[in-house]
Amino acid sequence: MPWAHEAPAPVEQTVELLRTFRGRFDLGQDFVYGVFSSDESEVVGGTGLHPRVGTGAMEIGYWVRASGAGRGFATEVAAALTRVALEFLTLERVEVRVDPANEASLAIPRKLGFVEEGTLRRRLHGPDGTPLQRDAVVFALLRSELPGTPVAEAHVEAFDAAGGRVA
Ligand SMILES: CC(C)(COP(=O)(O)OP(=O)(O)OC[C@H]1O[C@@H](n2cnc3c(N)ncnc32)[C@H](O)[C@@H]1OP(=O)(O)O)[C@@H](O)C(=O)NCCC(=O)NCCS
Repeated sequence: MPWAHEAPAPVEQTVELLRTFRGRFDLGQDFVYGVFSSDESEVVGGTGLHPRVGTGAMEIGYWVRASGAGRGFATEVAAALTRVALEFLTLERVEVRVDPANEASLAIPRKLGFVEEGTLRRRLHGPDGTPLQRDAVVFALLRSELPGTPVAEAHVEAFDAAGGRVA
């Protein structure tokens, strides 16, 4: 991944990045999440709901650390966030944009019942929203298409910042 070439960043830089994510989350501008093992002892990856794709829609991004790959984490988080976006936020549309060369990532929206709509040239974003000057295969799932997909069966429990259950 072009955006991961500099990783791991110095800890001070990572703290700044996390503060930026947190600030944007609290302002309702962008929603980045950590992905943890079920006992919360291990950081497995990251994911996010990004409003950068227009009104009534959000884009989902995801990454999984190499040691956690192939265990279904990206599929699970993409399904859960898609359900949150379509059912709980009642958005009309969720997008996943994938580099055409990224076979593992292409497999995820396909497994979840997203529709492949086409390829946008030079329209891929990095995890912080930076344009990457790379092509993007656009997959989308509409709220009306949710019933019967694996997304509709995704297990979701959601809590607010004070620990109160919201879903
Ligand atoms: C792509 C990525 C998110 C996949 O995460 P993951 O947790 O390993 O994904 P999952 O285990 O949920 O599913 C991966 C699927 O891709 C398939 N797959 C893996 N490598 C593949 C390949 N080379 N060709 C075709 N399919 C492949 C797996 O078989 C699996 O499908 P299955 O469950 O039907 O067998 C992870 O490798 C990653 O973080 N890569 C770097 C960042 C990135 O590419 N992010 C996505 C940006 S759009």
